[in-house]
Amino acid sequence: TTSAATVTITGAAGQIGYATVFRAAAGALLGSETPVRLRLLEIPEAVRAAEGVAMELLDGAMPLLESVDVFDDPTAAFDGAEVGLLIGARPRSKGMERADLLSANASIFSVQGRAINEAAAPAFRAVVVGNPANTNALIAASHAPDVPAERFTALTRLDHHRAEAQLAIACGVSVNDVDGVAIWGNHSTSQYVDLTRATVRGRPAEEVLLEHGHDRRWIDEFFIPKVAKRGAEIIEVRGGSSVASAAHATLRHIRTWLRGTPEGSWASMAVPSTGIHGVPEGVVCSFPVTCSQGRYTIVEPWAIADFSRARIDRSVAELLAEREAVEALDLLGPRA
Ligand code: NAI
Repeated sequence: TTSAATVTITGAAGQIGYATVFRAAAGALLGSETPVRLRLLEIPEAVRAAEGVAMELLDGAMPLLESVDVFDDPTAAFDGAEVGLLIGARPRSKGMERADLLSANASIFSVQGRAINEAAAPAFRAVVVGNPANTNALIAASHAPDVPAERFTALTRLDHHRAEAQLAIACGVSVNDVDGVAIWGNHSTSQYVDLTRATVRGRPAEEVLLEHGHDRRWIDEFFIPKVAKRGAEIIEVRGGSSVASAAHATLRHIRTWLRGTPEGSWASMAVPSTGIHGVPEGVVCSFPVTCSQGRYTIVEPWAIADFSRARIDRSVAELLAEREAVEALDLLGPRA
């Protein structure tokens, strides 16, 4: 075994938090060789519930779980954190305006950004899950000027997994046979689910889809909305939002970032744009990325087809509008 890693999980008493902490303590986040110290952050009203989660974690007698502590103070919660799973957020309540939602979350993520700046370990890396995830990551990064901005990422891995699964189903193969899907833009229904580089058993996915009677129109009118609206479909069928699949994607996001992508393959992560692919610098946008030795690299631009370009631009426009709304409310920190 290696030395223990410190992981801070926010919203730990919530649904995704509950599904995440057990697997993180069982090795699904950092591997079965790395013990973990879990630091759970909740709002005061939910601290008792988080303590209950901590009690259950103890009841697991989990060999890799070195410690579990509960906090309602962000600076204490992020003390020494090497990994942050930023799951807790303010949900949209009935009748809430978009600006109110942005500002409620901006106050959460600005406080957490400052706490991270003050207390986290130099190696700190974060994935923001709480929505609006991309913009929340932007806000947190803007309030943590001493932490490299690229360490603040947002979750689009669930969308990536959904695309892989639906592609496999449409082609009658296993998910192990599909590769190269990409999610671009915002974690919202404006996301662009890109199959132009996807493969099925090494062949272009669009070619294999055609053999199954699915043309580009089907991709546009059925496949892309199916993936983008899968969250709503889960709510309708399961009677509750995506929880276990979101927890799974969160764990995979960090694991891939730390452990790397397989040779010739990529994952989707929302990361601050370097200005690549025509996406304005600093916008936290989903891209296909390769990972190696704890670093991610946005894949090199390829000749993006016009229809893809328009889709990407539309989602990026939504991200820019979110950024402007936050700027207008004066909620960005010193980095911005
Ligand atoms: P939930 O409502 O069950 O849990 C959220 C928890 O966060 C609650 O326990 C709440 O007390 C806590 N919380 C709120 N403010 C906090 C703060 N300032 N500090 C610490 N904890 C705080 O919600 P659920 O189902 O666990 O979802 C969490 C978030 O993840 C939501 O914003 C949801 O929209 C988002 N989500 C994102 C996905 C993605 O792919 N990016 C997929 C699915 C959900």
